[in-house]
Amino acid sequence: MHFDPYDPELHRDPYPVYRQLRDEHPAHYEESMRFWTLSRYDDVAAALRNPDLFISSKGIAVGLPQNDVAVQSVPLLIMMDGPEHTQLRGLVSGAFSPRRMAALEPKIREITRGLLDEMCESNGTDLVEHLTNPLPTIVIAELLGVPPDDRHRFKIWSDAVAQFDPAKPDGIHPGATEGPAVELAMYFADILEERRKAPQDDLLSRLLAAQVDGRSLTTQELIGFGFLLLVAGHETTTNLLSNTLVLLDRHPDVRRQLIESPAMIPQAVEEFLRYDSPVQGLARTTTAEVELHGRKIPADETVLLLFASANRDERHFPDPDRLDIGRAPNDHLAFGFGKHFCLGSGLARLEARIAFEEILARIPDYRLTCDEIPRIHSGPIRGAERLPVDLGLTTATS
Ligand code: HEM
Repeated sequence: MHFDPYDPELHRDPYPVYRQLRDEHPAHYEESMRFWTLSRYDDVAAALRNPDLFISSKGIAVGLPQNDVAVQSVPLLIMMDGPEHTQLRGLVSGAFSPRRMAALEPKIREITRGLLDEMCESNGTDLVEHLTNPLPTIVIAELLGVPPDDRHRFKIWSDAVAQFDPAKPDGIHPGATEGPAVELAMYFADILEERRKAPQDDLLSRLLAAQVDGRSLTTQELIGFGFLLLVAGHETTTNLLSNTLVLLDRHPDVRRQLIESPAMIPQAVEEFLRYDSPVQGLARTTTAEVELHGRKIPADETVLLLFASANRDERHFPDPDRLDIGRAPNDHLAFGFGKHFCLGSGLARLEARIAFEEILARIPDYRLTCDEIPRIHSGPIRGAERLPVDLGLTTATS
């Protein structure tokens, strides 16, 4: 069997291919791109539970030269292992506490309403352009404390950085020497300097003040973390929103249920994350030989952990291809698991809940006007490039 995660054909509907992998090739070696794939829930979860055997620092995307110099020139938490990772995570995690996230709710609601207002007033025709793409960027700008006057510049840079694709080493990435990534790094350095002199109630000020065992973050680490928030928090959240808007278009019964009972939205969001995961899979590198399903994976091999396939594994989830917003338990792996479990999961869940409360109140009758969703083809992310829409406003407002 041939499995290329970058194949545009696969992006139309990867799930039958994942099923074949699980059933017939649970430990698959892709000769052409030289990586292994694990696709069953138990195997993916076991690998995530063992970060000493499956390490992150040699890259988390497949089809890349290992130790890509440019990507590693800024320390990124997501690509660290062992005590170095634990210490940095300890320094930044307090800034993402449930209490801090909950405090953002009024602001996120205001931002969402503002975007919906603008889209409805201009009778917008693309949900990605007007809603799902800008919302996470503005929220991250808010979280970081980017002054409102700078938002426009920040959006241009962050759109460029968020398209960072580890599969394209020539693209925009944190280690680039010119272009938007460098402008953004210089901008972060300026705001950091200002916050050092006059701290405010924002994430950067809190990160500047954070200390663990007498150590605080270096400027390089802070800039790296700012980048990581954009790379890890933008396209992922955008596509959770986009994928869900597609599902609500295809499942009018689910949409009706959520309009009638908005209190069900948080549980439904877990099912949307499971059913069509924005991050389909990320890679690890083995540090010793691993024997699985009668095959020997040698040390120092790249192994793609297919979260999205694990989330559809019939060995773990009953009737996994059914969208069941009441599913419980729902221990999906869409945010990963273990040491690298998504630091922004609370923020992503909050944003999704607010977005769907507001969307279903404001444009309950929206209708996608394309038969086939134009899919993005960037690395491990599943999502929509555009969502052409009829907002259904005449019926909604009459
Ligand atoms: C629906 C939205 C999101 C999804 C599906 C998602 C998914 C993930 C996954 C699968 C990982 C684990 C990576 C690994 O094991 O190698 C991860 C890590 C991470 N995510 Fe998210 N993410 C989302 C939103 C966010 C947001 C909004 C932020 C912050 C603003 C964020 C920040 C991070 C960070 C910093 C890490 C690295 C944690 C570590 O290495 O210790 N994510 N995310």
